[in-house]
Amino acid sequence: MTSDQQPLKRVLVTGGAGYIVLSIDNHHNSHNYALDRVSRIALDALPANASKEERDSATVDDHLGDLTKAEDVRKMFEQYGKGGIWGVIHVAAHKAVGESGEIPLVYYQNNVSATVLLLQIMDEYDCTRFVYSSSATVYGIPPHIPIPETSPLKAESCYGRTKIVSEGLYNPVAQPNRWRAISLRYFNPAGAHPSGLIGEDPRGRPGNLLPLLSQMAIGRVKDKVLKVFGNDYPTRDGTCVRDYLHVMDLAAGHLLALDALDPGSIDKQSWASIPALHAAPALKTPAAAERHDVFRDMKPKEGKFRAFNLGTGRGQSVLEIVEAMKKATGKEFLTEVIGRRLGDVPDLTADPALAEKELGFSAPQPLEVMCRDLWNWQSKNPEGYDTKPANGQS
Ligand code: WQD
Repeated sequence: MTSDQQPLKRVLVTGGAGYIVLSIDNHHNSHNYALDRVSRIALDALPANASKEERDSATVDDHLGDLTKAEDVRKMFEQYGKGGIWGVIHVAAHKAVGESGEIPLVYYQNNVSATVLLLQIMDEYDCTRFVYSSSATVYGIPPHIPIPETSPLKAESCYGRTKIVSEGLYNPVAQPNRWRAISLRYFNPAGAHPSGLIGEDPRGRPGNLLPLLSQMAIGRVKDKVLKVFGNDYPTRDGTCVRDYLHVMDLAAGHLLALDALDPGSIDKQSWASIPALHAAPALKTPAAAERHDVFRDMKPKEGKFRAFNLGTGRGQSVLEIVEAMKKATGKEFLTEVIGRRLGDVPDLTADPALAEKELGFSAPQPLEVMCRDLWNWQSKNPEGYDTKPANGQS
């Protein structure tokens, strides 16, 4: 039982070793070391008088598994039986906008077919609380900036289309009295845990801007010049604008979404006791205390399904990101403008008002802090999770 005598809830995180408890991950783009370190952070966060069960619950069970294989997913649920897993945070996905255009069927298999299978098996095992990692790329080229959740869903990339289809899967499934589902449309997560213990470490050369700059600065990526994919967009400096939010604020958004699935199910004290989230002021927003039933306005026939933007409302261009990383790392970055990248859109800046009002979410940490924490992680782990630690710990 947790400190407030509520039964512990088991939550499965797919892709748990990627970037952001039970985890199932094929480590296609992640490292199992990450989960050892997540457990270390969670254990360090527990109060000295924590019960054995609370200490056990702080350890993430890492299940190496492939979400496209029914036997792997069913084995996970079978282990805990019907009702044994309270809910799922489904993060696992391929997520590179450009790459998705080159291998679309792999993206549909990994992002859509795997989600269908997961939902089917969740339903079999009475696991009906679902937080889905969606993406701002569902909005394509939106009619208005900043982008509200009511903006039309018409992705410009295969990746974005897999997210639209996946969101649509469980809306019909989310029968009013059985399922509750929340889609979190991530804008651009950035930064790292302030301890420098966990951070972004994609397999191979990073496709995303910030981890690429970080690895160039530490010398892990040998390129001396950043290729800028186009400077002829209708933006303030011609390069694409994105809404970067601190990954710790993004993590807090997931706790707030889990709580919104069954209001009050995660007691506030246990959140406050997790220094891992201390860097995420989202949990300190006053609105967080006055949460209400986010499904209260659903019509009787509608599934209990909501979608929220997780962003800051502040957009930064590619060139502004380069400048911010120059300041954070003290390194120079040469840039060379080349052609546009397939699937890129001019501006993805969130209107974050709905998540702030309904979930009590906020993402106030500025770009400087994201770049500082990213560089702290990279400097302490020059080779990512494969860095040979001085003290022998993984
Ligand atoms: C940012 C900008 C590039 C690399 C990511 C995730 C996606 C989603 C949103 C969660 C773009 C430019 C990049 C380079 C460049 N997150 N760029 N040179 O494409 O917005 O998508 O965040 O769902 O999953 O992939 O992020 O970092 O790839 O690109 O000029 O070498 O930087 O053109 O304008 P993106 P990114």
